[in-house]
Amino acid sequence: MAVLYSMPETSIALRDRVIVALDCDSLDKAEHLVRLLRDKTRFFKVGLQLFLAQGHRVLDMLRHHDCRIMLDLKLHDIPQTVRLALEALAGRQLDFVTVHGEFPVIAAAAEAEIDFGVLAVTVLTSLSQDDLARSGITLSVDELVEVRARAAIAAGLTGVVASAREAAFLRTQLGNDPQLPSPFTIVTPGIRPAGGNVGDQKRVCTPADAIRRGADHLVIGRPITHAPDPVCALVDILEEIKTEHNEKAS
Ligand code: C5P
Repeated sequence: MAVLYSMPETSIALRDRVIVALDCDSLDKAEHLVRLLRDKTRFFKVGLQLFLAQGHRVLDMLRHHDCRIMLDLKLHDIPQTVRLALEALAGRQLDFVTVHGEFPVIAAAAEAEIDFGVLAVTVLTSLSQDDLARSGITLSVDELVEVRARAAIAAGLTGVVASAREAAFLRTQLGNDPQLPSPFTIVTPGIRPAGGNVGDQKRVCTPADAIRRGADHLVIGRPITHAPDPVCALVDILEEIKTEHNEKAS
C-alpha cells in the first residue's frame, strides 16, 4: 500500500465517520432512524427522495437532534443556477452539499457565497466501466474520477465523493501534486460489510477497506437502515472501523 500524503482521517471522531443515508420518504421514518442511531453516529445524509418529499422540515429535525447534515442533491445545471441554488442553502447549518463533478458546475460552486462544504460527485458508485462506455465516455472510471477530483480540488471545493476503490490513488496521486492544496475530504458511498447484499451498487468496498484506502467519511444506507437491527448493524460497522483504525495507527 502506498504511503498516504496526509491522513486527515485520524482526527475524525468515530461518531462522525459514518454518514447514514436516510433514504426514505417520510419525516417520521427518518426521525425514527435518527433517534435509534444518534447515540452512535451524529452524521446523516438527506438525499433527493427525502428532501423532495419533506423539504426543509427534515433539515430542521436533524438540527433539532444536534446532527450533522450532508445534503446530497448532486446539483447539475448551468453555472448561474448551481451558484444561486447553493447560495439559497446558506445559513442553514449544513456540513456538506453535493454537486456533479463536471467542470463548469465545480467552477460555479467554487464561486458561491456559502457557509458549508461542497463535495463534487466524481463517478457514481453505481456505475461500472460498461455504463460509462454506454454513455459515450471513453475514459476509464479511474481516469474520470481523477480528472473530476483534480478539478474539484484545484477549484478549492471541500472534497469529493468517490468509491473507496479510488480513495487510495486519489490520496497518493493528488497529494503528490504541488499545485493542489491539501488536505481534502474523501466521502465514500458503496460500502458493504463483507458478504452483504450489493444491490444496485457496483464499485463496493467493506468499511475496513474504505478506511484503509483513506476515506474520511463512509456513506452507508441499506446495510444499516434495512438491517433487522439497525443499531446492531451500525455498531458492527463502527467496530470494524475502530479495529482498522487501530491497526493503521500501530
Ligand atoms: O443504500 P446504500 O448504502 O447503497 O446508499 C448509498 C447512498 O449514497 C445513496 O443515498 C446514494 O444516493 C448515495 N450515493 C451513492 N454514490 C454516489 C453518491 C451518493 O451511492 N457517488
